[in-house]
Amino acid sequence: MTLQNVLPWILRARQECWAVGAFNANTLEQAQAIVQAAQAEEAPAIIQVSHRALTYIGSGNEIQGLKYIAAIGKVAAESVTAPIALHLDHGMEREVLQALALGFTSVMFDGDGYSFEENISITKRLCEAAHSVGACMEAEVGEVPKPDGKEFDGSAIALTQPEEAVQFTEATEIDTLAVALGSVHGLKTKQISLDLECLAAIRSRVSIPLVLHGSSGVSDNDIKLGIAMGLCKVNVATQLNQAFTGAIRDVLNGDGDLVDPRKYLAPGRNAQMEIVRERIRFFGASGKAR
Ligand code: G3H
Ligand code: 13P
Ligand code: ZN
Repeated sequence: MTLQNVLPWILRARQECWAVGAFNANTLEQAQAIVQAAQAEEAPAIIQVSHRALTYIGSGNEIQGLKYIAAIGKVAAESVTAPIALHLDHGMEREVLQALALGFTSVMFDGDGYSFEENISITKRLCEAAHSVGACMEAEVGEVPKPDGKEFDGSAIALTQPEEAVQFTEATEIDTLAVALGSVHGLKTKQISLDLECLAAIRSRVSIPLVLHGSSGVSDNDIKLGIAMGLCKVNVATQLNQAFTGAIRDVLNGDGDLVDPRKYLAPGRNAQMEIVRERIRFFGASGKAR
């Protein structure tokens, strides 16, 4: 299929209390694994690419990275019959505009580092641009920290304030809202409990679909409860990287003479496909595109 706007799937997920999985890719093999998993599970899925992944793919030039990923995402989506969206994850303003011009069907503006008012005004502008090409727009209020392996102060996490969430969604007309409920990006173990009271307070006042970032570090029990309470797009990156890299490490550890990259990248791709399948099933999305 051609790349799809994922919003109708997310809206359906909200009605039926399941979630669309949004899976980060940094390499061709990781993107392939996502669409293969969606196909095997007969589920909608989102390939998403972060600012840092774009910089990596474009060898330092994120606009070049966007061009590569736009082409890879299109071919990957067309290789399967499952509905696939291509999403820019944590984008900067100019990346969002470039992604929309290149055919991404979904974009997120990351207003980290901007004041609440600036975040509103940039998001509103980008939202108009996204809607003018039929793409889905996500933005964030509050902060899901990105410690990148460094220590972080859990008490300093800025949870999404329900009143700000209301103000932000009304002012910007975004389609989906990323909320900070205590999760942290990039954790390698499931050690976080979500603030479900905060989620309930936001849910009672904001009607648009809510997005969970940093799911790799969140207990599965809380992800399940969160989905039942209205989280309907769940982002996964670190868990996929662990599976991908772990499989490659095993192959290389077992054969010090191996030099053909296909012999270790294929197991990496396969391991990533299995974890994406498992997450799709866990989110309740399996069979929804049947
Ligand atoms: O939210 C971002 C994802 O966890 C990807 O992280 O910046 O290392 O690509 P990254
Ligand atoms: P994790 O790497 O913690 O799964 O976070 C994924 C994410 O939020 C991508 O936007
Ligand atoms: Zn994120």
